[in-house]
Amino acid sequence: MKIIKQMSGVVLLLASVGLIAIVAVVAFPGSGEVRQPIAFNHKKHFENNVSCAVCHQFYDKSAKAGIAGVEVCKRCHEDVLYISSEKQKLLHFVNAREEIPWQQVYEVPEHVLFSHKRHVVAGRLECSQCHGDVTQIVGPITTQAVKLDMDGCIDCHRTAYANPNECLMCHR
Ligand code: HEC
Ligand code: HEC
Ligand code: HEC
Ligand code: HEC
Ligand code: HEC
Repeated sequence: MKIIKQMSGVVLLLASVGLIAIVAVVAFPGSGEVRQPIAFNHKKHFENNVSCAVCHQFYDKSAKAGIAGVEVCKRCHEDVLYISSEKQKLLHFVNAREEIPWQQVYEVPEHVLFSHKRHVVAGRLECSQCHGDVTQIVGPITTQAVKLDMDGCIDCHRTAYANPNECLMCHR
């Protein structure tokens, strides 16, 4: 009985995953590099001691790390000491009270379970193990420094997490 239940779970899983995969290919053909609305500079913020948690407030509390809205940017950028082309773009969003349409680069499909809290708090992993050294990135993030596809997840789990990589551990 248990085996049959598991098997039907896997069949259902494959069916739903297949459908989503087809939809994804139709909706986002050949997605590679993304374009960001502002060339955000991680290195500059790191050098000014602005910690990751100021802008990615939820990485130790929930599944998503989160990207701060303009309200947070405004706190430090209402006082303009000098103007640059990228700051000009930021001020446009601040003055128009508009959210900045950042494009997400690291993204798992809807059918995959992933939690930042689990990996960063319980797993004690560093951001750089999955995102490379973000503190040295000068321009916008447009591609994945570390490839986090299914093989990428499973490879690390084999060495860092002694749990069988069962399908239903990562798929709903
Ligand atoms: C002052 C705000 C701010 C700070 C501080 C900051 N980030 Fe970011 N981060 C952003 C913004 C805005 C983006 C989206 C623009 C981009 O990707 O270039 C982003 C994007 C990212 C992304 C890519 C997300 C995706 O999938 O698109 C990663 C990974 C990331 N940050 C990690 C970090 C780490 C690690 C630190 C600390 C070392 C950090 N960030 C500090 C604002 C910040
Ligand atoms: C805790 C303070 C703080 C927060 C919050 C913050 N910044 Fe900054 N930001 C700085 C500092 C410090 C600098 C470097 C000095 C300067 O340019 O004013 C900087 C510089 C910049 C620059 C100019 C870099 C360049 O290359 O011209 C941009 C653009 C910028 N930040 C965007 C953002 C965005 C977008 C957010 C919100 C997601 C944000 N900042 C949130 C402190 C902050
Ligand atoms: C075990 C690998 C792993 C680690 C460690 C990790 N991330 Fe991520 N990160 C991911 C994956 C996978 C995604 C895509 C998740 C999704 O689509 O829900 C992601 C997405 C993001 C995003 C995009 C927006 C969002 O809300 O999730 C940001 C920002 C980010 N990570 C920041 C960080 C920061 C900061 C740290 C360190 C405190 C960190 N990550 C540690 C794997 C990781
Ligand atoms: C760099 C190593 C690393 C990478 C990459 C990684 N993980 Fe993990 N993962 C871990 C560790 C370590 C744990 C155990 C955390 C703990 O102690 O609870 C874990 C736990 C998990 C769990 C919880 C499993 C359970 O027992 O319930 C899930 C789900 C998961 N990871 C999914 C993913 C997915 C999906 C990806 C790829 C997008 C991924 N992981 C990438 C190291 C990694
Ligand atoms: C450690 C987490 C993890 C485990 C375990 C895992 N997967 Fe995945 N799987 C992912 C991630 C992340 C993706 C999305 C990224 C990608 O397509 O590589 C994915 C994508 C898929 C896809 C869609 C592929 C495509 O081309 O769109 C299928 C089908 C799939 N997994 C089936 C399975 C089966 C069957 C198992 C068990 C034998 C399994 N997965 C185990 C994380 C995992």
